[in-house]
Amino acid sequence: MKLHIFPQTTPLAGTITVPGDKSVSHRAVMLAAIAEGTSVIRNWLPAGDTIATLEAVQSLGVRIEIDKHSPQAWDLQIEGRGLRGLRPPERPLDCGNAGTCIRLLAGILAGQPFSSVLDGSPQLRQRPMRRIIEPLARMGADIVANDGRTPLHIQPASLHGFDFHMKIASAQVKSAVLLAALYARGDTRIIEAGPSRDHTERMLAAMGVEAVTEGMCVTLRELETGDWRLTPLDMTIPGDISSAAFPLVAAAIIPHSEITLKNVGLNQTRTGLLDILRQMGAQFSVQNRSDSGGEPIGDLTARFDELHAVEIGGETVVRAIDEFPILAVAATQAMGETAVHDAAELRVKEVDRISRLAGELLKLGVDIRERPDGFTIAGPLRLRGAAVDSHGDHRLGMALAVAGLAAQSETQALDADCIGDSFPGFVQTMRALGAKIKVGE
Ligand code: S3P
Repeated sequence: MKLHIFPQTTPLAGTITVPGDKSVSHRAVMLAAIAEGTSVIRNWLPAGDTIATLEAVQSLGVRIEIDKHSPQAWDLQIEGRGLRGLRPPERPLDCGNAGTCIRLLAGILAGQPFSSVLDGSPQLRQRPMRRIIEPLARMGADIVANDGRTPLHIQPASLHGFDFHMKIASAQVKSAVLLAALYARGDTRIIEAGPSRDHTERMLAAMGVEAVTEGMCVTLRELETGDWRLTPLDMTIPGDISSAAFPLVAAAIIPHSEITLKNVGLNQTRTGLLDILRQMGAQFSVQNRSDSGGEPIGDLTARFDELHAVEIGGETVVRAIDEFPILAVAATQAMGETAVHDAAELRVKEVDRISRLAGELLKLGVDIRERPDGFTIAGPLRLRGAAVDSHGDHRLGMALAVAGLAAQSETQALDADCIGDSFPGFVQTMRALGAKIKVGE
């Protein structure tokens, strides 16, 4: 699929919802699968990545009733099988493009009394897995990989807790170890390298499991009375701030725009984008703050304003890790040179997001320079329309589509099907705000 994007000469306006949070949707399915009883999950994200998790969990013998009431939001009833009730899968589990699926499931499967194989797409097969294999092996797990990459062959093992001093800030690695810790003898202590997203800890707490966080340390104790028992979930998944990022930045850079996004997740470990955009001079307001399944939510209003360049580094990078493709687009419209440091992790996302982003933005005339751990962009610039490529990366595809709105002539975004990995209905949502985007062949 190809997108045709035309210069946006009219403001974006209106009120929309974005699909449910991808990270929370993955975790809700996995944790409900090992809960004691039936979980009810509303506004679950039916995207490529999360459907891979849902199907993997079904292959482990978990019954899931699905109410597909809209293409952007499903309601699920999941019959949990308890911590030790999963069934051996008949064939390798296909995690598609989803890093969260494979890394978190590896944590659960490492503690099972049966063997399993986790595999995925050619894109996923490129991504580093030693970051989970090594800590899980230190807990006693038996995982054989293909030179540190997918497929992962997991054999039964008995696990024990340990003190894990993380070298990289990664919620996927932290969560894999936390989930394995549910099956371990002894206590597990994780000392984080940076403030990575804490959805696993929050969801475990909502299910009656105390993973205690003190500063940068998360501890899961072994219970003297036997296994932890997870009570079922009853929750509505918040809107994904990482999906909201695309219309938000579009509104911030298209003159006279004002848009509102309802029920967006505002977990502090995810709102680095809002902090950076505020520093750049963007205006937001939040109304109707509340809570959904242990996650803070609210309605976000964003308006156009003149942006200026900023330096981005340190902890903010972790709290905005998925947002750099779209932040780069904001930087092209900001006065001065925006510099991103401490973001080498971007090189091991769905694609190398530093070099791919630089390659595609150059085609639109952007003055972008790669650094080993980030990039610099000089703005503001009048972008020129061009044919650009997502390289199979959903967030790069959406960022390029938003950049196209700020260009002077038509932009074509190729290989755009991957947008469905995280944001089903992206084009319709943007069009509802008045964006000039069309789907082509
Ligand atoms: C995720 C964690 C982040 C993020 C990814 C989703 C999660 O990855 O980039 O999109 O759901 O835990 P890392 O943990 O590898 O930084």
